[in-house]
Amino acid sequence: MRMYDIILKKRAAQPLTSEEIHFVISGYVNGDIPDYQVSALLMTIVFNGMNKDELGTLTLEMAKSGHMVDLSSIDGVTVDKHSTGGVGDKTTLIIAPLVAACGGKVAKMSGRGLGHTGGTIDKMESIPGLQTEMKQDAFIEQVNRIGLAVIGQSEGLAPADKKLYALRDVTGTVDSIPLIASSVMSKKLASGAQAILLDVKVGSGAFMKTLDDARQLAQAMVDIGKANGRFVKAILTDMDRPLGHAIGNALEIREVIDTLKGNGPEDLTHECLVMAAHMLVLGKICDYDTAFERVQQALDSGAALERLGLMISAQGGDVRVLNDDSLLPIGRYTRDVIAQSNGYIIHMNTEQCGIASVMLGAGRTVKDGPIDYGAGIVMHKKTGDAVSKDDVIATLYAGDESLLDGAEKTYIDAITIDAVAPGVSNTILGIVE
Ligand code: URA
Repeated sequence: MRMYDIILKKRAAQPLTSEEIHFVISGYVNGDIPDYQVSALLMTIVFNGMNKDELGTLTLEMAKSGHMVDLSSIDGVTVDKHSTGGVGDKTTLIIAPLVAACGGKVAKMSGRGLGHTGGTIDKMESIPGLQTEMKQDAFIEQVNRIGLAVIGQSEGLAPADKKLYALRDVTGTVDSIPLIASSVMSKKLASGAQAILLDVKVGSGAFMKTLDDARQLAQAMVDIGKANGRFVKAILTDMDRPLGHAIGNALEIREVIDTLKGNGPEDLTHECLVMAAHMLVLGKICDYDTAFERVQQALDSGAALERLGLMISAQGGDVRVLNDDSLLPIGRYTRDVIAQSNGYIIHMNTEQCGIASVMLGAGRTVKDGPIDYGAGIVMHKKTGDAVSKDDVIATLYAGDESLLDGAEKTYIDAITIDAVAPGVSNTILGIVE
């Protein structure tokens, strides 16, 4: 078999066989096939796509390029959740405790922030002492004991994706539905959960800017899961405005705790309840209506907050954060962002809001660089809200005063105010199963 012939075949828009896909992935991972030939193949996939069979096989080969986690010793159906990345998206840390409090088993591996988007692991690490690395046995024991564990992805998970992603990043081949779908799902298949809820974000802060593209991506990921024997459902959610009021690690953990105490923003609370209910259905606990009632009750009774506390202690964190904000310090330099005119906020460029938060120190600007857990933004007004000139629409937090000016300008530029009130959509935009 020759890589050259495989490139020509895909260039002619013919489907590749399982043997050919195996040849490409194993040859690339072990160094027999050079970057330039894989780049050419990736570009033909960008233009000619892949059918369902090819995509299912490609994804499994990528997953099998490293360690496949075996979660079969967890009692019950293990449920994972994945978001395609957003701004202010702290849903995992609300949903996982809600699901665990209702009898679900959440075994989740999460990532760090990427570009303008935040990452669950960074947010968790703003809790003093909390560990996000764990041996597989301890991970399984924790899920069996308290119903949830959220840890970082291990180095050996889907190494083919790591290599392909780095190549895509520099060859103009990131932005392709089959390549994004196989990348995300290879890590999910390797992580071992039987059921997966996908949160596909849509809008100015997301990879997918239109509902149509998001739906296609969701369908491709659901098909890959099905082809590999997993139960998968995708929820399309709005990322044309940041989620909740807080952006930035410690600020978002404060918002998670407030939400689990029943004092969270309405959009965030509702989105989390809906997704948690879908996870209970995927975990074969009960039907959707019963599930929604149960998660609402887990929120109202404090049972979900208690689960978050159990997870924090199990992973070595200081559980006093649940009742003492001062253990989650935030930036000592602050700046109020003032509305520039009267009217309504009609749009928030959500990617730019995320960038403003990174500029304050909440995200990395270089690979493996430091982050300031206390940096970020609290939004007092969002899309649809009426504002008067000189109202405070947001407060910026930083540990370094010199970062405030640039972030303030970026945030102001991200906000559009107009005289006519906009229609504001629901945060749940669709479901693909
Ligand atoms: N997230 C991933 O893991 N892979 C992609 O290709 C895009 C987003």
